[in-house]
Amino acid sequence: MTPVLSDKATSFLMAKPPPPPTFKDKIAKVTDRLLSKHAKQALTDPGMQKWGINNLMRAAKRYNRWRYGEREKKHQKAYDKKLTELMEEHGGPGHYPPKMVMQDGWAIDTSMSLPGLDRLLDEAGQVARERAGKSHTDVQQPYFRNLMVYEDVMKYPSWLDFVTSPDVLATAIHYLKTIPVLSKTRPPGIRFMESNQNLDPNPPGPFSESQLYHMDLHDQPLVYVLVLIDDCTMECGPWHFLPASVSDRAIKALGYQKRGVRYRVTDEEMYSVIDPKEAQIFAYPKGTVLFIDSSRCFHYGSRLSYKPRLQMMYAYTSVTRCDFSQTFMPAFPYPVKKTDSRLRKMVLK
Ligand SMILES: [Fe+2]
Repeated sequence: MTPVLSDKATSFLMAKPPPPPTFKDKIAKVTDRLLSKHAKQALTDPGMQKWGINNLMRAAKRYNRWRYGEREKKHQKAYDKKLTELMEEHGGPGHYPPKMVMQDGWAIDTSMSLPGLDRLLDEAGQVARERAGKSHTDVQQPYFRNLMVYEDVMKYPSWLDFVTSPDVLATAIHYLKTIPVLSKTRPPGIRFMESNQNLDPNPPGPFSESQLYHMDLHDQPLVYVLVLIDDCTMECGPWHFLPASVSDRAIKALGYQKRGVRYRVTDEEMYSVIDPKEAQIFAYPKGTVLFIDSSRCFHYGSRLSYKPRLQMMYAYTSVTRCDFSQTFMPAFPYPVKKTDSRLRKMVLK
């Protein structure tokens, strides 16, 4: 999603000018430009098959470590040496280690008690009443659309407050073993997605794109935080996913992410190597939260969502991702205030 900024948003974000570029920044601008054209092509289905997803991810990680390695070291040092101090400054004592720990690549919080959840549900609900079921500007697939516009992150503070709240952040940090960043390119770090088959002008054909099993390749590991903004039942096209251990078996059996192998996996292919009963289904009441490593757990969703599915989707990655998206996409500018904690600034900057 490329944000379109209003004058008010631009002046807010430009209050503190960025530091002047270093010599390395100037060189990196050139290497980014040279890579960007190939990077876009490599992320297409033929590109991924030609090069192999594994190889592309390894190459991108190496490049990003050269490009952003200094910042990566800062984030790692903060995790290794200052985590308790940073967490306490951010949210007071008692948030780390987290109450919710991801196991086998995932965890589901059904408590409805995560701080800030009520406000998030309320503010996202307002937007849903205003925009859901209508045509949108940010259409990922005809049946899968982002209801969010850039100004929402300032108009509805709960959207960022929730994902940066101490308990949610603690779960992501504990799993990733570093201080992560909220993605600024692909996938968007924050999306308010509506899956709605009724918005698809064409009758449903075979499942395609994110309706088929795949694993995200933007980083590994990474953490998605999915929040159900309304009740999600089987008629809503809920997320289906395979735990990491089951996914590992499937990767081996299918040769997934190797050269010549497709990014998307059909049910027929998947269920020839694992038992369909091993799939977990994220069909839960409004306010349920799924933490999942979508780069380690096969997943699909938005199948025949005749009852609309409303889901807030957040993505945490490391500083040095496994894709080249930063070479050709503008960074999403999260609003950061002077008074924000050091931890929140690290995550959003
Ligand atoms: Fe995905």
